[in-house]
Amino acid sequence: MELRTNPKVTAAVQVRGLTKHYGETRALDGVDLDVAEGTVMGVLGPNGAGKTTLVRILSTLVRPDAGHAVVAGCDVERQPYRLRRAIGLTGQYASVDELLSGYENLYLIGRLLDLNAKGARRRAEELLERFSLTDAAHRPSKTYSGGMRRRLDLAASMIGRPRVLFLDEPTTGLDPRTRNEVWAEVRRMVDEGSTVLLTTQYMEEAEQLASDLTVFDRGTVIATGSVESLKRQVGQQTLTIRPARAEELDAMIRRLADHGLAAVPDGEGRLTVPAGDEAQLTAVVDALGGSGLGIAALETRLPSLDEVFLAITGAQSAPSSLEPAA
Ligand SMILES: Nc1ncnc2c1ncn2[C@@H]1O[C@H](COP(=O)(O)OP(=O)(O)OP(=O)(O)O)[C@@H](O)[C@H]1O
Ligand SMILES: [Mg+2]
Repeated sequence: MELRTNPKVTAAVQVRGLTKHYGETRALDGVDLDVAEGTVMGVLGPNGAGKTTLVRILSTLVRPDAGHAVVAGCDVERQPYRLRRAIGLTGQYASVDELLSGYENLYLIGRLLDLNAKGARRRAEELLERFSLTDAAHRPSKTYSGGMRRRLDLAASMIGRPRVLFLDEPTTGLDPRTRNEVWAEVRRMVDEGSTVLLTTQYMEEAEQLASDLTVFDRGTVIATGSVESLKRQVGQQTLTIRPARAEELDAMIRRLADHGLAAVPDGEGRLTVPAGDEAQLTAVVDALGGSGLGIAALETRLPSLDEVFLAITGAQSAPSSLEPAA
């Protein structure tokens, strides 16, 4: 299978037919994926879906059984050395040297990446500062808390300003403030030109960072697209109505029912009505207009990413389709 070579279409990551089996387990089973340069691709999927396997193949830690992958213009199998110089990786599990201090870890990586002594020192200090590790910079990293190690790991992956950054569940176990710091740093890397492929279990993280999403289940891609398009694809937009007078809630439900619209109270004094398209929205407005029932607030809402995720992966995991496709 030929990978796209059109220079006008710059994909930082191109994957075709990628396959990796462990015995009977199909960790990856013919995966296609493109990540456009300068974007953040969020990879979602339940435990065991194959996310880490993908990241490990793309960062040359594991060889695929079949298929092709090109990262930053380098073929994962034929140009692994060149590829490693173009990427940064934060794996799912911390990988810093425990005997070295945070500063030493970062300085060492900087030197390994060909920074001179001054450059490596400056970059280490800068990243320690950004990840709030300056106070602990000179302690052995084995004395760091879990969250501090995680931050050191992230800092380490960013030292060389990689063209492509792989982050495998980067914020698992981080407190909310630290998570925000990490998000800010990821955005900064993208502003500075990096492309990011990020796996996550947090829908909020995907919404905050990713422009595009790929959902995996049992080694295959089951959905892909922009955050917005996935929401539209899966879920129905809903309209929320808050009556001006709370006691008119039931009257409003009846009025909508008379017009063939099923409104459901949300338990907080509002009604929700499915409003997937313009015609439905117009029907609601027509039904209530001139009814004498006052409206205090109207809001349309797309489903949350959590709802999208459950809908997509739930459909795949339904009992009737438990057996992987042959
Ligand atoms: N080295 C290995 N040996 C055997 N099986 C493996 C190996 N690595 C991964 N697997 C299996 O491949 C499948 C995919 O694993 P992977 O770690 O890629 O999933 P994941 O999507 O990252 O899951 P999680 O959300 O739990 O991190 C799982 O069934 C896992 O048990
Ligand atoms: Mg994983």
